[in-house]
Amino acid sequence: MLQRIVKPVLLLVLVVLSTHTYATEGMWLPQLLSGLNEKEMKGMGMKISASDIYNINKGSLKDAIVSFGGFCTAEVISEQGLLLTNHHCGYDAIQKHSSLQNNFLENGFWAKTAVEELPNPGLFATFIVRIDDVTKAALQDVKPGMSERERQSAIDKRLNEIRQNARKESWQETLVKPFYEGNQYFLFVTETYRDVRLVGAPPSSIGKFGSDTDNWVWPRHTGDFSMFRIYAGKDGRPAPYSKDNVPLKPKYALSISLKGVKQNDFTMVMGFPGRTTEYLPSEGVKQTVEVLDAAKVEMRDAALKIMDGYMRKDAQIKIQYAAKFAGTANYWKKWKGEMLGVKQTNGIGRKLQYEATYRQLLETNPAWKQQYAGVLDSLNGYYQQIQPYAQTRDYFSELTKNVELFDVGDRLINFLNNVHERGEAQYETMRQQFLESMQPFYQNYNATVDHDVAVSLLALYAKGVPAQYAGTEFTQIWQENNKDSRLLADKLYATSGLTSMDKLKAFVQQPYNTVVAQMWTDPAARLVMAMRKGYVDNVSRPLADLQSNINNLQRTYMQAQMEVMRSKKTFYPDANSTLRVTYGKVDGYNPRDAIHYDFYTYLDGVMEKYIPGDYEFDVPARLIELYKKKDYGRYGVNGKMPVCFIASNHTTGGNSGSPALDASGHLIGLNFDRTWEGTMSDINYDPSICRNIMVDIRYVLFIIDKYAGCTRLIDEMKLL
Ligand code: ARG
Ligand code: GLU
Repeated sequence: MLQRIVKPVLLLVLVVLSTHTYATEGMWLPQLLSGLNEKEMKGMGMKISASDIYNINKGSLKDAIVSFGGFCTAEVISEQGLLLTNHHCGYDAIQKHSSLQNNFLENGFWAKTAVEELPNPGLFATFIVRIDDVTKAALQDVKPGMSERERQSAIDKRLNEIRQNARKESWQETLVKPFYEGNQYFLFVTETYRDVRLVGAPPSSIGKFGSDTDNWVWPRHTGDFSMFRIYAGKDGRPAPYSKDNVPLKPKYALSISLKGVKQNDFTMVMGFPGRTTEYLPSEGVKQTVEVLDAAKVEMRDAALKIMDGYMRKDAQIKIQYAAKFAGTANYWKKWKGEMLGVKQTNGIGRKLQYEATYRQLLETNPAWKQQYAGVLDSLNGYYQQIQPYAQTRDYFSELTKNVELFDVGDRLINFLNNVHERGEAQYETMRQQFLESMQPFYQNYNATVDHDVAVSLLALYAKGVPAQYAGTEFTQIWQENNKDSRLLADKLYATSGLTSMDKLKAFVQQPYNTVVAQMWTDPAARLVMAMRKGYVDNVSRPLADLQSNINNLQRTYMQAQMEVMRSKKTFYPDANSTLRVTYGKVDGYNPRDAIHYDFYTYLDGVMEKYIPGDYEFDVPARLIELYKKKDYGRYGVNGKMPVCFIASNHTTGGNSGSPALDASGHLIGLNFDRTWEGTMSDINYDPSICRNIMVDIRYVLFIIDKYAGCTRLIDEMKLL
């Protein structure tokens, strides 16, 4: 009897389980979807076809997606070239237009008419016209046994040719990039518009709500969006800024769905992810989280603690250091999450398991064995060899980035080198430019804060970097100061000529040769030169040689995996700032024992987090008023205002501003972050805890329409 019940139930469970094991890992090339992914995507609920996403003969989804300034993604959401991206992507543009009188960061900005839309020199939007596989042509001169350098120059020659011969219109551009660690090459024909104007942005208390405390964290309540518009020449083609330019008539504009999503609904994110390393061998993953992340986190932990202490005590320092703090904290937090996530999901163990399967399969085929035997072992071996050099590189760069005095020293050395290259006759003019470029730096510089950072980080550097890599000059200075970072820092900040604008001016006011000679007597300049010399003498060469061996073997290992593991897995290329499609399902997750996270947040959660007057959690009065009246218009559901949601789309930095699309390809949200536990997806995607965070499009529209009253923008969109 029991048997008879158990069996069907078991079957049912198996069926349910198997329909749940979709491969949400992967950042796919849009032109390859029909061959690789379409079937799975449809199985997960997608209602459109691959040719609706990428089509070179008619407008398709890809024609609505742009690389925004090369660092973020944006999408076209009206027939008049209206662009949607994140607030943190538009932040620089918004800041540049802000002043004390018109503080758009604080109060938001809404162009009431087209005339009020603000140009942003330097900002651009790039469309992808077409993607062609050019692997064969790119690799035709590559011969076995070539060194990495020979190989690269043989390829570069061909790439030039490929780009020159590419079929394209006169206003279009071309770009070729390597994929699958250099096993394949794709040509991109692109169209770049350079007249991109700011149209609207909510106040930071909405667009950056939760700031650094909530960064990388779920549950999230940030309205992280801003709006721009692409302008073109009268012929519709790219044109430099001119007041006579007209709004772009796009090939394709996204339609917007107000329906929202339910658990397990299909979602898709298209955009320009920057960089991932998904095919590291186990030693590479181990090194990333246990050594390199750990070193960088250790250094930033110390720097952030000191900045935070001063920022809490002193309002002036808080203004001066807010942006620096946020910049340092962003990746600090990401790396911590990455370390935690890999540990929690046994990422290294799973990699070893994967490698064991690979080795087993390799044994089954003599041709594979002949071609790939030993590749994985050598690769793992090179990762072990590169470890001390890579670790030193990271300590060194964190030290010079976080101790601002060393950053000044670095810039000063570069400036003097430039003069040396161009000739002393240029010194006068170059000095002027150099001093001007340093002005904004000193406006936000506080030598007391920096001194304390130096005390902490110098000690960590000396502890973390063995003397043989730090170099004799550094070791000598370190010993002169009894290996006491406080003693050393006290001396540096009391006597160096680099600690203020006035002192720096006086220092470089001297003749070129005097300045060069005094670089070895100024204690801060001397220390930076000593560290740089140590790095050049002991680290950069072996690091580059080992890295070149690693690149070579990563390429071979990639090729091997794509053959040997073919039956186990479909391979996608690592992110490289090119257009990708990722897809997944709306779902919550269990980050830790006994904790479950739901997949939706609401305006109620904003009010729960509200701290009046706080710089991270203040809420604008008008939003509170709308909340109290439940005045959500057509954007609310059952008296609640949705704010953010999560899904298992595989995203990374650069995907900020990417559209979240539903099964019909309609816009439902805007990607802006990942959950903390899932930031490891750059090296070790795990569907159980990796989630991307999106702001619900209805919250975006509610803010534009109800909060800002900018209905002219709503009117030009296509709402379904
Ligand atoms: N974590 C997001 C990203 O990597 C958002 C960063 C901006 N926000 C912030 N609070 N720092 O870019
Ligand atoms: N905030 C990131 C960006 O600016 C996206 C978050 C992520 O790394 O997934 O691109």
